[in-house]
Parts: sequence; structure tokens; C-alpha cells
Amino acid sequence: MTTHSPSLQASPDQTAPSAPETLHVAVVGAGRVGTAVARSLLDAGYRVSLSASGDPALLALMAEIVTPGAEPKWTGDAVSDADLVILALPLHRLHTVDPALLHGRIVVDAMNYWPPVDGTIPAFAAETRGSSVVVQEMFPGAVVVKTFNHTGYHSLEPDRRPAGHPERLGLAVAGDNSEAVALVSAMVDRIGYDPVPVTSLAVTTFMQPGGPAFGSRLTAAQLEDLAGVPASAA
Ligand SMILES: NC(=O)c1ccc[n+]([C@@H]2O[C@H](COP(=O)([O-])OP(=O)(O)OC[C@H]3O[C@@H](n4cnc5c(N)ncnc54)[C@H](OP(=O)(O)O)[C@@H]3O)[C@@H](O)[C@H]2O)c1
Repeated sequence: MTTHSPSLQASPDQTAPSAPETLHVAVVGAGRVGTAVARSLLDAGYRVSLSASGDPALLALMAEIVTPGAEPKWTGDAVSDADLVILALPLHRLHTVDPALLHGRIVVDAMNYWPPVDGTIPAFAAETRGSSVVVQEMFPGAVVVKTFNHTGYHSLEPDRRPAGHPERLGLAVAGDNSEAVALVSAMVDRIGYDPVPVTSLAVTTFMQPGGPAFGSRLTAAQLEDLAGVPASAA
């Protein structure tokens, strides 16, 4: 299997980091991770939509209470209008997402292959370079960037710190496309973490279950050491 870096849609919104309030982020998956990410994005000033597997009307009350400000949408509607898509659903459900929907999109993979929940999925079980390599192959027209997956949903919000704070932690941001990594890194920075750009999806086992960064609260310098590759200048 090989990794590749599809080109982005010719949309200025997707190629140039913009002010957060002008960016619409579609969070796909309204569970523990999706709602924590959505709240963090809202706090950082982004326009956020939230979708689950069904009718957004079923999400409305939950969203009003749990992620106030996030707009419940059908996944298709949310993604078609989004500058950035965050996938936060269990990997065993990922096959239900239409690859055509994500064509040309920057897609953040916040997911982990977790056999107790996902069961055995041969493609993920066999992949030794990182689960996002498989996600990229499932969505060949998307530009996949891996982040958020190595922190727990319960610590994402309390661990946020402003830039320069002595307790600020890092989050690895891995991808094959440097423009997309830069855009997502800017988002991670605005949320409250030092982004640690990693130049390839194929070296990301350090940040997934079983890897040393998984579930650890690490500074950017510690993450760079664990990444084992030079951080990009993205
Ligand atoms: N838990 C953690 O601390 C943590 C940390 C980092 C990463 N992760 C990873 O993040 C992913 C999500 O974990 P989670 O704990 O947030 O899961 P979760 O609480 O079970 O939530 C899953 C969400 O995905 C939605 N979903 C399922 N199929 C969908 C589809 N086809 N389209 C849109 N939404 C769909 C579900 O909606 P319905 O209810 O409508 O099906 C639900 O809202 C997993 O891969 C997990 O390994 C988890």
C-alpha cells in the first residue's frame, strides 16, 4: 500500500488559513470526541456544524445543551458547505461515509482503531504505518490529516492553554500535504495546543493506541522527539 496526497479543491478557503470565524468546520460524529472537539472549536471562534448517523433533528436538543452554538446538520449538507471536515466516528462505521462526499476536502482523522469497540477490521489490523494510511485509502479524493486522536476526549478541553503558557501541551498534526497540515496546525494552535507538524501519515504509529504518545500529556518538544522525524515548517 502506498500513501499519496490528493490535490485540494481549487478553493481559496481550503488553501489559505483564514480567520476562524470565517471557517466552517463540519464535525462528523457527535459522541465523546466530536462534542469535545466541537466545543473547543466554538470557543476558538469557528463556525461549527455537527452531524451523526441520522436526522439532525434528533441531535438538536443534545446540541443545544452539550455543544451550544454548533449547528446540527445532515452529514452530507455539513460536509458540502465545510472548509474543514473532522471525522470523529468509530472506525467500524467509517464504511458508511460516502467517499464522494469527501472528495477534495481536508479531512481531519481524529479516530483510532480500537478492536474492543471496532472488532477486527483486516485492513486496519494489517496496517503497520498508522490507521490514517487506511483512512486515506478509503477516501482517495480527500486530503487526510491526523490529529486529536492521541488525547482523551475528557482532557482535550481542560488541557487547553494560551500560546506561551508554561503548561501548554502539544498535539501532533500529521499529513502528506503540507498546506493541509498548516491549516489544521493553525486550528490546533487556536484551540490551545502547540501543533507538532509531522510530514507523513505513514509514520504515525507513535500517536495511536500502543504508541508512546497515545494518552500521554506531552509538550511539543517531547512529541517531536517521539515522532522520530523532523517536524515540518508547516
Ligand atoms: N474516547 C476517546 O477518548 C477517544 C479519543 C481519541 C480518539 N477516539 C476515537 O474517536 C472516534 C470516536 O470515538 P467516540 O468515543 O467519540 O465515539 P462515540 O462516543 O461512540 O460517538 C460516535 C459518534 O459517531 C456517530 N456516527 C456513527 N456513524 C456515523 C456516520 N456514518 N456518520 C456520522 N456520524 C456517525 C454516532 O452517531 P449515532 O449515534 O447517530 O450512530 C456518534 O455520534 C473513535 O474512532 C475513537 O477510537 C476516541
